[in-house]
Amino acid sequence: GDRIVKIWAKYGHFYLQGLGNTLWVTLLAVSLGVVLGLLVASGRMMKLRSRDNPVLKGIKAVVRFLCTAYVEVLRATPLIVQVFVIYYSATGIGLSLSDATATRMMWGIIAVGLNSGAYLSEVIRSGIGAVPGGQLEAARCIGMSQWKAMRFVILPQAIRNILPALCNEFVTIIKETSVLAMVGIAELMFKAQSISTQTYIFVEPYIIAAAMYFTVVFPLSKLIAAVERRMNKSVTR
Ligand code: ARG
Repeated sequence: GDRIVKIWAKYGHFYLQGLGNTLWVTLLAVSLGVVLGLLVASGRMMKLRSRDNPVLKGIKAVVRFLCTAYVEVLRATPLIVQVFVIYYSATGIGLSLSDATATRMMWGIIAVGLNSGAYLSEVIRSGIGAVPGGQLEAARCIGMSQWKAMRFVILPQAIRNILPALCNEFVTIIKETSVLAMVGIAELMFKAQSISTQTYIFVEPYIIAAAMYFTVVFPLSKLIAAVERRMNKSVTR
């Protein structure tokens, strides 16, 4: 107890900086994930139509294959391995330990964002897939174009399915960014590690980090769950 107080007194600002970096990396990585997720989900949902010419059909098939491959590869390999691949590729094109924190964080954001995009594309795809097929048929029957039906009938309902999972992605990524400590990106876990090696104290620095993750993640996940319950109450299907 005493050690924790002492470490916090001396290194508190250092931890808070780490938490700030964790939250920035999370925000930007999930934003990248949303953009990638939308693109990849659209790519995978493209329909090969009989009226398409063979060239267009071929292009669509290739895009669809690439999107599927991206999702499957990123979801079936550990995030930490992906982080190492991206980080050392970045090192290969000049990233170094002496680079500014923001530059190094950018590569962490790219690695985690690519991973998040794979998961979010599936969240988006299944959120759209969960809207009953009759909704699209009905919209088309009353004369809406495919695009208008998508925009005004399918998407508003899909968003209800997608939003809770998207919010939970923030919770997941706040925790998962801790793997970036392995490649020296100055987020919360990395700060704990460097305090530990500086002080030769091996438990308490990590207890403080855990307490800080908990302080953010626990209320956030409860808030998301509460909002989700309210959302479900106000809608009858
Ligand atoms: N720890 C898991 C892994 O290494 C979880 C990744 C979760 N990613 C996400 N974007 N939800 O693969």
